[in-house]
Amino acid sequence: MLMQGFVAAPGGAARESRNMPLLAIETTCDETAAAVVTRRREVLSSVVASQEKLHARWRGVVPEVASRAHVERIIPVIDEALLRASIGLGDIEAVAVAVRPGLVGSLLVGLAAGKGIAASLGVPVVGYDHVAAHLYACRLGPDAAIEYPCVGLVASGGHTSLFLAKSPLELDRLGGTIDDAAGEAFDKAASLLGLGYPGGPEIERAAVGGDPRAHRLPRPLASDRERLDMSFSGLKTALRYLVRPPGAVAEGPPPRGRELADLAASFQRAAVDTIMAKVELAVDRSGCRAVAVGGGVAANTLLRESLESLAGRRGLRLFIPPRSLCTDNAAMGAIAWERLERGDDDGLVLDVTPGTDRAASRRKP
Ligand code: KG4
Ligand code: ZN
Repeated sequence: MLMQGFVAAPGGAARESRNMPLLAIETTCDETAAAVVTRRREVLSSVVASQEKLHARWRGVVPEVASRAHVERIIPVIDEALLRASIGLGDIEAVAVAVRPGLVGSLLVGLAAGKGIAASLGVPVVGYDHVAAHLYACRLGPDAAIEYPCVGLVASGGHTSLFLAKSPLELDRLGGTIDDAAGEAFDKAASLLGLGYPGGPEIERAAVGGDPRAHRLPRPLASDRERLDMSFSGLKTALRYLVRPPGAVAEGPPPRGRELADLAASFQRAAVDTIMAKVELAVDRSGCRAVAVGGGVAANTLLRESLESLAGRRGLRLFIPPRSLCTDNAAMGAIAWERLERGDDDGLVLDVTPGTDRAASRRKP
């Protein structure tokens, strides 16, 4: 029923003779996304249907709600991506699907759609890793580039990891969070401050004009030069006790005005300091002269400015995608070209490998 919007496919001969784009699909968590990207990594279209409103009342992603919403949206979203790229399904050279990590129910929706389209067109289908794709977003856009080897930082709602990136598909994990992901910490902090979901942009807005030194918040592990691990849960707990001191009987009204701005700014500064300490340590340890960054938290202005200042101070080359390509999108599925160009085709045996449940720990604190 939902397929009716698709444009009819031209024949296979056309497919062989033209330089045709890739259709990429992303349904790892709570965004239903599709994009059309050329072999030259030019993004012809990128459509993201966010489920933010659906999950807002729970202040975190509810897996079952997410899966159902993906089922409803996946075909219209793909349809829209093709329409915006001014192409039909038959103009697609291959299909790419994010197959890990993510919520199993969500991943399966994208997988079914991707395999179905590839099988019906007789084109290759390849799976790609969502986290590696976040870094690959640095390669998208007119002047975009990424240099290897580099230190790769992916900071999102489900992941906060540092990598030694040797090539787009070879990421050696150097360290990362041992508890909450950075984005998850922003989401939980926002919830504590009575702000909406997703918390990152809300905290960023609330922090404007606030004093980041107003409250002394911890930067766990930040001064530990032995480990590339990060921790955010103690920071969240410290904020919780600032908002509601231990022993307080009733929950007071959420902070407002200057008080809110100071709390948000102090939290944001502590979270960014925690990340930056380990990025710098990773640079020192690896000897890399380049840093690439991706994931929703990389949209944060304070983090971007801190990375730019580190790069300036240390003479590093910094690769960072535009904000719209930091948060979840399918354009970063362009990473699949790296596999298609070497002739890979996962075929119909392609399956999902969910890994960690990205929503389980993203609930209201
Ligand atoms: O990469 P992403 O869209 O999804 C995952 O792969 O998880 O990241 C979403 C996360 C959310 O936790 C959100 O609060 C955070 O990225 N985020 C931000 C900002 N924009 C999104 N965190 C801090 N500052 C932002 N401006
Ligand atoms: Zn993501």
